[in-house]
Amino acid sequence: MELLKKKILDEGIALDKNILKVDSFLNHQVDVNLMMDISTEFYNYFKLKKINKIVTIESSGIAPAFATAYRFNVPLVILKKQQSSILSDELYETKVHSFTKNSDYMLTASKKFLNQGDNILLIDDFLANGEAVLGASRIFKEANCNLAGVGIVIEKSFQPGRDKIEKMGIDIYSLARISKLDKNVIEFK
Ligand code: G4P
Repeated sequence: MELLKKKILDEGIALDKNILKVDSFLNHQVDVNLMMDISTEFYNYFKLKKINKIVTIESSGIAPAFATAYRFNVPLVILKKQQSSILSDELYETKVHSFTKNSDYMLTASKKFLNQGDNILLIDDFLANGEAVLGASRIFKEANCNLAGVGIVIEKSFQPGRDKIEKMGIDIYSLARISKLDKNVIEFK
């Protein structure tokens, strides 16, 4: 998505080999017009998949996921992160390891909002190691939902997330794919 790549080059700050800061339009301040353009890109790619629910993971996935849910005219479900297990009959939960943050968290969803037969499009802001997507897919399996596709705003292609998702046979579409980061260096695939 050329507009997004331009925004990344104009406003993104590459801190080091691993982290790109995009606080001015995605992670802190949100460019709402860009979010609507992003939703159109995801809609055009996934529109034939009979999506009936958009799912994201709190918190930075919410802006693009909200716009995409609006575009598809379907509900948005936000998977929650908890610091520790809160086992309950009313919740699905799975443990996820974040390599970027070097910590574990519990990903949870209320059983009320994931229904058997749901055809889900998962939207997230960043794809790094793919562990959040894998965790979400475990929850969908337990809920007997189908993960029809994964839409990512910024993929760090030099990290293993995409490979893990493709190996599961899941259709993944990333709007910007970064092949290299370094201090003040941003290169696209
Ligand atoms: P994974 O799910 O792909 O395995 O990714 P990982 O755990 O390694 O990192 C996930 C968290 O780190 C996410 O934030 C993600 O947005 C953030 N992240 C990863 N790489 C970058 C990056 O280059 N730049 C920025 N700005 N963030 C990055 P989170 O823990 O879900 O928190 P939140 O920001 O969504 O609340």
